[in-house]
Amino acid sequence: MPKTIKILDTTLRDGEQAPGCSMNAGEKLEVARALEHLRVDIIEAGFAASSPGDKEAVAAVAKQVKDCAVTSLCRCKESDIYTAWDALRNAAAPRIHVFLATSDLHMEKKLRLSRKQVLETVTASVQYARKYCPDVQFSAEDATRSDRDFLCRVFEAAIGAGAATLNIADTVGYALPEEFASLVQYILFNCRGIEGLDVAVHPHNDLGLAAGNALAGIAAGAGQAEVTLCGIGERAGNAALEEVVMGLHTRQNALDVSCRVETGQIYRSARLLQSVLGLQIQPNKPIVGKNAFTHEAGIHQHGVMADRLTYEIMRPESVGIPQQEMVLGKHSGRHAFDETVRSLGFSLEEEALASAFQAFKALADKKKKVTTSDIEALIKEEGRETTGHYRLESFVINSGNTIDGTAILKLAVGEEGGQTLVAFGDGPIDAAFKAVNELAGEFTLKSYSLNAVTGGGDALGEALVRIENENGQYTGRGVSTDIIEASIKAYLNAVNKSL
Ligand code: KIV
Ligand code: ZN
Repeated sequence: MPKTIKILDTTLRDGEQAPGCSMNAGEKLEVARALEHLRVDIIEAGFAASSPGDKEAVAAVAKQVKDCAVTSLCRCKESDIYTAWDALRNAAAPRIHVFLATSDLHMEKKLRLSRKQVLETVTASVQYARKYCPDVQFSAEDATRSDRDFLCRVFEAAIGAGAATLNIADTVGYALPEEFASLVQYILFNCRGIEGLDVAVHPHNDLGLAAGNALAGIAAGAGQAEVTLCGIGERAGNAALEEVVMGLHTRQNALDVSCRVETGQIYRSARLLQSVLGLQIQPNKPIVGKNAFTHEAGIHQHGVMADRLTYEIMRPESVGIPQQEMVLGKHSGRHAFDETVRSLGFSLEEEALASAFQAFKALADKKKKVTTSDIEALIKEEGRETTGHYRLESFVINSGNTIDGTAILKLAVGEEGGQTLVAFGDGPIDAAFKAVNELAGEFTLKSYSLNAVTGGGDALGEALVRIENENGQYTGRGVSTDIIEASIKAYLNAVNKSL
C-alpha cells in the first residue's frame, strides 16, 4: 500500500505574498472552494496577524471549508498566535502554523537571537499555540542553510512543546535535490521524538528546483509537501502544486506514494486562480500551460498518432483539460445551460446560475456559437462586474490614426448612480484608463494583454491588466465581445481590488 502524502496548499498565504497576487476575502473564498474540491489536505488561508483584512479572509475560509484542515501562519509571538486562533476557531480542522528562522545568518542578522534564545522561543510559542489548538505545525525558516544538528535540536524543542508537523523550509530556494533528500533523512534519523510525526518540505523555486526538491524530500521520507497553484509565490515562487502532485501520480512506480488530490480538478483550479489574479502563465508551464500537451513537431505527431505513450507521460484528461468544446447557441435552454455549467465543475447557487444564464443569453445574441470556454469565462466574470465599488455603466470611444483617443465613461460608484468622465489619451485604451483615474486616483499601467477566449471574429476577448499605485500592484480581468469594454472592466476590477 503506497504511503499517503499530505498536500498543504499555501497559494492564499505564500502565493499571495507575490507582487500582483493579492486577493480580497471574496477571491480567497473562491480559491479556497476550488482547493477543497481539489482535495488538498490543508489550506494555508493567510497570515491572520498581518492585517485585519487577512484575518477576516482566514476566518471566512475557516468557516466555509469542511473537507480540509485550515491553517494560518504566525510569528513566534503570542499576539500573532492568538490572532490566528481567533480567525481559525470555527474551522472543522484548525491548525496553527508557527515559524522561526534557524540559520545562523537569520538568527544573527535578522532576529538578533542566540541559539539558546531561539530554542526557548520555539518552546514557548508552540506551547502557547497548543493551549488553543491540538494541531500545531512548526516551520524552520531557512532550514536548508541551518546547522543540521541545531535544526534537530529546534525540532526536538517544538516536538517537546507539542508540535505534530515539522517543516523544513528552503526559504531562498538554495538546496539541491540530493541535499534536500539527505537533510530530510538526517532529521528523520537524528531528531528525538520525530517517529510517527509528519516532516514537511517547503521548497522555493529560485533555482528552478522547487518541484524536484519536493519530490526528493518525499522520496527521502517526508510526509507533507507545501505547494502553491501555478507555483505563485515570492520571487521565483514556490513548488507548483500541479507539478508535485502529477510527479507523485505519474511516478508512483518509483516513489511508491500517493496523495488524495483529485487530479481531474487541477486544470480548472489553475484556470480559476489565473482569472482571479489576472495572471498569465507561460505557454510551456508544465501541466497547465497552453502547450503542455501540444505536439508540434511532425515526428512527435506521428508517434502520438501511432501510440500516445510515445511522447505523452500523462493524459490531458487526467488533469481535467477538456478534450472537446461543447457548443450552445441562442436557442439552447436553461436545462442545457445548467448541465453544461455542472459538467464544467461549477456548483452555483440558484441566483448566480440565473444571472449566469442571463449573461449567456446576452452573449448568444452577439455570438452564434457559445463554447464551453466562453461559458467558463462568463461564470468567472459574474459577480465581479456587479459587486465592485466602481462599475461600468456605459462608454463611448472616439479614435483614429489622426486624432487623440477620446473616452467618455459613465461609472456607477458604490450606491451612487452614474458619474460621467471624459479623458484624452494615446489611443482608446489609454484614454479610457485615464478617465477611470480621474475618479479613482493615480494608477500606473504596468502590463496589459488581450487574448481571444475562443477562435473566430466574434470571440470573447479577455483583457488582463496589472496596475500600480503607492500601496502596491493589483491585477484585474475583464471579458466581453468588445475588447475596449473587456479592457475597461479589467482596469476597474484591478482598481476595485486596491480599495
Ligand atoms: O519560505 C518560508 O520560509 C516560509 C515559512 C514561513 C514556512 O514560507
Ligand atoms: Zn515560503
